[in-house]
Amino acid sequence: MSTIIKGGTIVTADRTYKADILIEHGKIAAIGQNLKGDNILDATGCYVMPGGIDPHTHLEMPFMGTYSSDDFESGTRAALAGGTTMVVDFALPGIDQSLLDALSMWHNKTSRANCDFSFHMAVTWWGEKVFDEMQTVVQEKGINTFKHFMAYKGALMVDDDEMFSSFQRCAELGALPLVHAENGDVVAQLQAKLIAEGNTGPEAHAYSRPPEVEGEATNRAIMIADMAGVPLYVVHTSSEQAHEAIRRARQKGMRVYGEPLIQHLTLDESEYMNKDWDHAARRVMSPPFRDKRHQDSLWAGLQSGSLQVVATDHCAFTTDQKRMGVGDFTRIPNGTGGLEDRMPMLWTYGVNTGRLTMNEFVAVTSTNIAKILNIYPKKGAILEGADADIVVWDPKREKTISANTQQSAIDYNVFEGKKVTGLPRFTLTRGEVAIEEATVKTKEGHGEFVKRDPFGEVNEALSKWKALVAPRKVERTGIPASGV
Ligand code: URP
Ligand code: ZN
Ligand code: ZN
Repeated sequence: MSTIIKGGTIVTADRTYKADILIEHGKIAAIGQNLKGDNILDATGCYVMPGGIDPHTHLEMPFMGTYSSDDFESGTRAALAGGTTMVVDFALPGIDQSLLDALSMWHNKTSRANCDFSFHMAVTWWGEKVFDEMQTVVQEKGINTFKHFMAYKGALMVDDDEMFSSFQRCAELGALPLVHAENGDVVAQLQAKLIAEGNTGPEAHAYSRPPEVEGEATNRAIMIADMAGVPLYVVHTSSEQAHEAIRRARQKGMRVYGEPLIQHLTLDESEYMNKDWDHAARRVMSPPFRDKRHQDSLWAGLQSGSLQVVATDHCAFTTDQKRMGVGDFTRIPNGTGGLEDRMPMLWTYGVNTGRLTMNEFVAVTSTNIAKILNIYPKKGAILEGADADIVVWDPKREKTISANTQQSAIDYNVFEGKKVTGLPRFTLTRGEVAIEEATVKTKEGHGEFVKRDPFGEVNEALSKWKALVAPRKVERTGIPASGV
């Protein structure tokens, strides 16, 4: 059975034009005028865009003595409700655990996923086994990204020695290293000092992680990546200090990517001053929300191209879970939600305010990350042959965000009360309608793992990858990097 999306305006990262879309066997079969098919979806008055890709989620993540509460079922249902059609989660090996074991554990969590997904592999310790298994992860398991936590001392954190070893291995394998960039040693000392001085509430979480902690680590990771001859992707870039390091590196020709979160773009540190402990603790995440000058910097980065991707870092804990940290802010599970709200919030605060064009919206929610992760144009594109992961976006539909109507399993929403204008009329995952306005039609188990090839000899990204590594050998010209 075929499906036609009829009467809409197609918006991609580089074009806006009127055309219908024919979908067959889960893929875009044709784009053109007056196409015929079995099932007609009326897109009149709507923008037809590539479904969102959220490259940063933690579904059912074991963390700080508990598990994040959205699993691959509720998390991907929330994603689809907000127009996101693919998520990339993190497989986290325990200390001394095999990467391949961790990967199997993460695959086992996904049987009820409603949309497609992929994984980044975390490097949480270093040894010969990790070195060897990284090759299998890349060449056999379809994963071309490795995440490094520079914070969470005593848990996920790796040191510079481990990071430099892993980055060099990434360079050899044609893989991209990712970093959570905060100086974990400094954070640990600041936390201890604050607690010793009696600052135990959620606001102290923000004091323990000032922007300098992030700026220093971002700059360090960039320099280490440069010495290893590998590009770098910096997750949850939240401050001007971190953005400045990325901007400067890019101006020197280094291939560095930055990923602000929708939370950091639209919520600020005053949330931690709320007299209600629950309100403040529900917003505890790392890096913490910043003041408005940092928000301006992040928006400017998206506008100018020095930051490329908007994600959520969706890691949702219930209020009861957050209460593990009553009397000691360092025990509040770090993480916030956002999967359902990323696209409507970015449209409302980005496109409707004139900060972003519609094409830039598509770029930063879908196409750029598809290119960075080497899955373009299977994902992130409206092109013949691409997966029919599509959102039919009604720019006039409105709602007020509320935990009472959300798909996420938790009991609150950090965007509670925000009015958004611009929502999906339909969300399609590989051609199947999963969302029709407020009606959820998701199918548990529909989601499939998306393999991602390394940047290497075997694929067309070879020339791109050579361009990434080659600048190590030549004097830098100061010409900005091309592409995303
Ligand atoms: O606070 C956060 N961001 N929790 C999730 C884990 C991480 O650091 O990304
Ligand atoms: Zn992180
Ligand atoms: Zn994260």
